[in-house]
Amino acid sequence: MTKMICKRILLKLSGEALMSEAGGSLDATIVNRLENEVKDLCEAGVEVGLVIGGGNILRGAEKSSQGMDRVTSDQMGMLATIINALAMQDSLEKKGLQARVMSALKIDEVCEDYIRRKAVRHLEKGRVVIFSAGIGNPFFTTDTAASLRAIEINAELLIKATKVKGVYSADPEKDKNAKFYSKLTYDEALDQRLNVMDATALVLCRDNNLPMRIMNIFEPGAVMRLMQGEELGSLIEKG
Ligand code: GTP
Repeated sequence: MTKMICKRILLKLSGEALMSEAGGSLDATIVNRLENEVKDLCEAGVEVGLVIGGGNILRGAEKSSQGMDRVTSDQMGMLATIINALAMQDSLEKKGLQARVMSALKIDEVCEDYIRRKAVRHLEKGRVVIFSAGIGNPFFTTDTAASLRAIEINAELLIKATKVKGVYSADPEKDKNAKFYSKLTYDEALDQRLNVMDATALVLCRDNNLPMRIMNIFEPGAVMRLMQGEELGSLIEKG
């Protein structure tokens, strides 16, 4: 079996990226393919934590800009991530994987509370752990939740899924001269305000020395190729 570059990863997927054309729900074809890829990773011995956003259902920041109280809209956004996590848990289990949704908000009739030591135990037993409800507090993004959970569970790599190849100096869909970065430091991403993740998430990763890979995981097989050692997307590390 090919050796994997690391044992434990956290994969951050945005709800919007997984959204079906019709809006709202997750795109079954994309989700199905990603789940098969997660299964391949688990079978190769990789321990996988997942964070899925809720933007396909509701974006807290957007509601807030439309006049809704920010705390309420962020709490609605957190609930949206639980809905996506439950959907993912169900379909991962239908593929024969074991999955556990853990929530940062107490909703224990529906899923387990997030307890770090329990999450690590699940991972060690080969279960996919889906971290939901962000960090349980308003004003924090799911990117920040992904960074925090990755650090807490001692993931060796945080992978953030995007629809483009990686990090660019400008939006490559709007600017043909946008420069692609195959490697950069957290400080460069912060100083140049590159549209990677919010500053809180970046600073958490920088200060805890967690490498992050920004990559297009909509390319079939990309995560597995990365795990087998191929240089894909952009790597952000401490300088
Ligand atoms: P171990 O036995 O520790 O290996 O883990 P396990 O998750 O298989 O066992 P556990 O008895 O903790 O859980 C059995 C099932 O109940 C699993 O599907 C869990 O996700 C679920 N479960 C555990 N705790 C809770 C909870 O607080 N709320 C909900 N809704 N489900 C839970």
